[in-house]
This record gives sequence, C-alpha cells and structure tokens, in this order.
Amino acid sequence: MANTILVGAQWGDEGKGKIIDVLTESADIVVRTQGGNNAGHTVFIGKTKYVLHLIPSGILRPGKKCVIGNGVVIDPVSLVGEIDGLLKARVKVNGNLFISETAHLVLPYHRELDEQREILKGKNKIGTTKRGIGPAYGDKAARTGLRVIDLINPARFEQLLKIRIKENNEVLKAFGAKPISFSKVHAAYRAAGDRLRPFVTNTVVMLDQAARRGADILFEGAQGTFLDIDHGTYPFVTSSNTTAGGACTGSGVAPNRMDSVVGVMKAYTTRVGEGPLPTENAEIADMLHAMGREFGATTGRARRCGWFDSVATRHAAMVNGIDELAVTNLDGLDTLETIKVCVGYRIGTTRYDYVPNDVETLAKCEPIYAEFPGWLQSTHKARKWKDLPAKARSYLKAIAELTGAKLTIASVGPAREETIFL
Ligand code: IMP
Repeated sequence: MANTILVGAQWGDEGKGKIIDVLTESADIVVRTQGGNNAGHTVFIGKTKYVLHLIPSGILRPGKKCVIGNGVVIDPVSLVGEIDGLLKARVKVNGNLFISETAHLVLPYHRELDEQREILKGKNKIGTTKRGIGPAYGDKAARTGLRVIDLINPARFEQLLKIRIKENNEVLKAFGAKPISFSKVHAAYRAAGDRLRPFVTNTVVMLDQAARRGADILFEGAQGTFLDIDHGTYPFVTSSNTTAGGACTGSGVAPNRMDSVVGVMKAYTTRVGEGPLPTENAEIADMLHAMGREFGATTGRARRCGWFDSVATRHAAMVNGIDELAVTNLDGLDTLETIKVCVGYRIGTTRYDYVPNDVETLAKCEPIYAEFPGWLQSTHKARKWKDLPAKARSYLKAIAELTGAKLTIASVGPAREETIFL
C-alpha cells in the first residue's frame, strides 16, 4: 500500500471510518494527525458498532500499530475512556497504541471557553462540537498549551496547570461562567496521565524507523477539506489542517515519504454545524433522515444534506492532490428518480467554477445543476462493479470525472464487505 494519506473531500462525515478500516488491512501502521475527540469514526465489524473519537480505527484489526500524532489535541480523560471501552470489548490496546509526547492537551477550560464563545456569538455561532477544540489549538498557537509530555511529568504538570487555570478563570469570570477547580482537574488529569504514560513515546522517531524498515503507513484524516482552518469556509471550520498537508505536519513524516492521497466523498453532500452549504436541500435531508441516516457520530445532531457538489470536490482534489477517490453511501440515493449534481455556482449572471473564499459570497451562490437518472433499485448487495445498475455506474463515473480523480472504491453500506474495488 505504501504511505497513503486519506482525507475527507467534503465537510466531514464522508464515511472515512469505514474506508480507513478497509485500507488498514494492507497497512502496518495507522496514524491520526489532527483534530481531537470532535471526530467520530464509525466502524461496523459484523453486527458490532464501534465509534472511535481519538484512537485510529486500525486498533480493531489485530496486530496493527496505531499512532496518535503530534498534530492531534487530546482530552486525556476521554482517551482513557476510549481505551477502557476497547479493553471491555477485548480489543488489544497495549503494544498497539502509541501517543505522541508533543500532542497538545484539551483541558476543561477549553471546553468551557468553546461553549461561552458560542453563546456570545449568538446566531453567528459556528456550531462546534463543544469539545474545546478551538481553544486548545488557540493555546497551542499562543504557546500557552500543555502537552502530553507535561502531563506525564507530575511536578511540571502541577505547576503549569496552576498558572493556566488561574489565567483561564479570569477569562471565564469575564464571561460570567463558573471557575474551574484546580484540585478536581489536577486529580482527574493526573490519574489519566498515569494510565496513558505507558503509551507515550517519540512518535516522530518511531514512524521514521518504521518507514526506513519499509512499513506501510496510513494517515487517517478527520473532518473534511471544507472544515480546514486554512482552506475551509472560515470561520465555519474546525481549528486544524484537515487537508493532506496536515498529515505531514501532524505526524512529522516528511512530504517526500508520502506516496498517494485518497479522497473520500459521499455520493451526496452533508454538513454538521453552521456555515454555507450551497447544495443544501430539505427533501434529500428528510429522505435520508427518514432512512435513519445522517446523524452525527459525536453529537447525534441531524446532519444537513444536499446534492453532490462537484465544484467543492474539484477544489478538494486541488488542495489535497487527490489521486484516488472512494465514494461512500451510494445506496443512500437508491430510491431517487432523478439525481442532481452541482457543476457550477452562480450569483446573478456571474458564474463560479471554484469555491469563493468569502463565506458571504459562497452563501449567496446558487448551484447550477446537471441531472442524472436514478437507478431505482437497491445497490446494497452489489460486491463488484458489474453488479451495480448501469445508471449507478454512470453516476459514479460522472462525479469522479467532475472531481478530477480516479474512482477506486465505491461503498454501498457500512459493513466491510459492502465495498466495491475498481
Ligand atoms: P469544532 O471542531 O468542534 O470546533 O467544530 C467546528 C466545526 O467543525 C463545526 O461545524 C462542527 O460541526 C464541525 N466538525 C468538527 N468535527 C467534525 C466531524 O468529525 N465531522 C463533521 N463535522 C465536524
């Protein structure tokens, strides 16, 4: 498999968890490089559903090594909970999980600030997951963050935490919010630090040694291209680089070690949280929600839904350098007579073939649609390309061509076997 970066080509929730799980079969190591427990990767193995927030889903495959890289922000208490959940399900974690010393920590004041800032923004809120992600990355950039390496050094952690809680309580006071108790946080984080210590290592050196030995490494992206702090629909974004470059900075593996980029996209579009979504459509949303689909794995929120947007996915192919495409949730469109695909945006008589940087302009964009005939039959049981209805094949070919990358995987259900390789 060589070294592969996997990214979401839309607004997150593209079904990356399942594709990562499928690709992990031929990887030796899986690395998470950005985001925090705002992500939720869902994997079905048989009838058992696993939702992972920080630990790469590769942990579910015996013998695979999983790394939480330096670019991730870690809530240690939540991570211990995730480890315990896996141990309860008899998944082997010891010896398979490695946590970067230099990953930053999410602390309770980050979550509280996330919430308070959203309240202050009122109707202009971002619609965050309230996991403290923005404030944690903010501290990292401001050089006031605490890292895993601090957490596992009790004396230093105590000293740094005291200073940080003092400062943040002043800010929380200004918001009219309750102060954070040092002793409570200290006790909970010390306990979590003790549990995590055996997993903590210099993951940059570990990955370098593995790469020199010829290991195949899969870099799993969280969220999606349009939630990228630089390339997304700012400010309605998350606070990390969700695009392919983030895999290098978030792991310490150099760009010239990367061999290919896989972009994952749904056969339609979804978004959770606020911000523009040009192809949003209430009918598709109602249809998908009635099927029990499109509810967030982390917050349970109903996702906003719309037609496939090839202007957006073309942009994603550009900023990520997508070589191969995996299209998921094709079966979500099985019952539609006509399927629309956005091929351009329009404001009045001005046409846009790219995603405008100004969110207010993007919000005004009206999609220009091409129409495709629906296949009106279940694709759920298809296992090979030729098992798919001809109209479904044409649709897939068209959206890959419009995106400008090679289609290599189509997914027709959540299970591992519900996957078609081209
Ligand atoms: P935050 O990452 O919690 O700060 O949220 C910022 C924006 O990113 C919000 O619109 C969230 O709904 C969105 N977001 C964060 N994580 C995910 C994810 O894993 N899937 C989809 N959207 C996400």
